[in-house]
Amino acid sequence: MFGFTRPRRRILGSTFAGVVEEAGAKAERFAPGEAVCGMTGTKLGTHAQFVVARADRVARVPEGVTLEDAVGVLFGGTTALHFLRDTASVAAGDTVLVNGASGAVGSNAVQLAKHFGAIVTAVTSDANTDLVTALGADHVVAPDGDDLAAIGTRYDKVLDCVGNLTVDVGRRLLAEDGVLVLLVASLWDNIRRRKDVVAGSAPRTRAGHRLPPRSPRQRRTHRRSRQQLRPRPHSRRLPTRRQPSQARQRHRAPVAR
Ligand SMILES: NC(=O)c1ccc[n+]([C@@H]2O[C@H](COP(=O)([O-])OP(=O)(O)OC[C@H]3O[C@@H](n4cnc5c(N)ncnc54)[C@H](OP(=O)(O)O)[C@@H]3O)[C@@H](O)[C@H]2O)c1
Repeated sequence: MFGFTRPRRRILGSTFAGVVEEAGAKAERFAPGEAVCGMTGTKLGTHAQFVVARADRVARVPEGVTLEDAVGVLFGGTTALHFLRDTASVAAGDTVLVNGASGAVGSNAVQLAKHFGAIVTAVTSDANTDLVTALGADHVVAPDGDDLAAIGTRYDKVLDCVGNLTVDVGRRLLAEDGVLVLLVASLWDNIRRRKDVVAGSAPRTRAGHRLPPRSPRQRRTHRRSRQQLRPRPHSRRLPTRRQPSQARQRHRAPVAR
């Protein structure tokens, strides 16, 4: 994205929807003329007239869905789905607070949380109150300033799609066993994330779809990280019950003879 002398990616845009112009040899499941959509991630380039995309990063647009609707739901929809369903496990009856409910992620989060049967409170500006109500929010709050803790209610799941919520303030909004999801988190908040605080990026493999590693280098890294996850035989340096390490033996009280 960022280059030293000029932007490395000169054409912006990370989501696309359109009609297949040409399918490569490894993309035989797509035919010219088919309506498809997808995301290019950090490669960007989707604001161009034509986009070249890997077949495994392309999905067919379902019948009855327009290209505009398909491309509109991709970024915010997959992000909201990942954090609500896969990370926070939102379930029917949960109370969910969506901060930044009118944005790309927030507006999808409101609709998905309602779809999962949650009771949704949306935080948005006065100008967007009607919009988030139309999306299904049960309650809408437009707090003065950034002090969301002033809301005074506690929620099972809190999703921050703005970045003005810290771990401390977010925790004050949580009910018992609640989960705080920070889509935008400072380094300090990332360090302080615990069981009840989730921060970080949605994976490249969003919404449960696993993508194979791309290049030989990525395949090597993938293999290495899998090897690191395998249980290793006990290292000789690790003390066992029967053979206490020399270090531990040194610290034992001398035996009187
Ligand atoms: N962690 C991840 O993997 C991940 C993935 C996607 C996005 N993100 C991040 O999530 C954030 C939201 O993304 P988005 O695409 O939904 O952005 P967006 O479409 O710009 O929406 C952000 C919303 O936040 C509200 N907002 C903006 N400034 C505000 C302020 N100062 N105080 C309170 N509310 C404010 C606005 O709503 P109102 O005007 O109605 O209040 C706006 O609709 C971005 O920072 C993005 O980088 C993270």
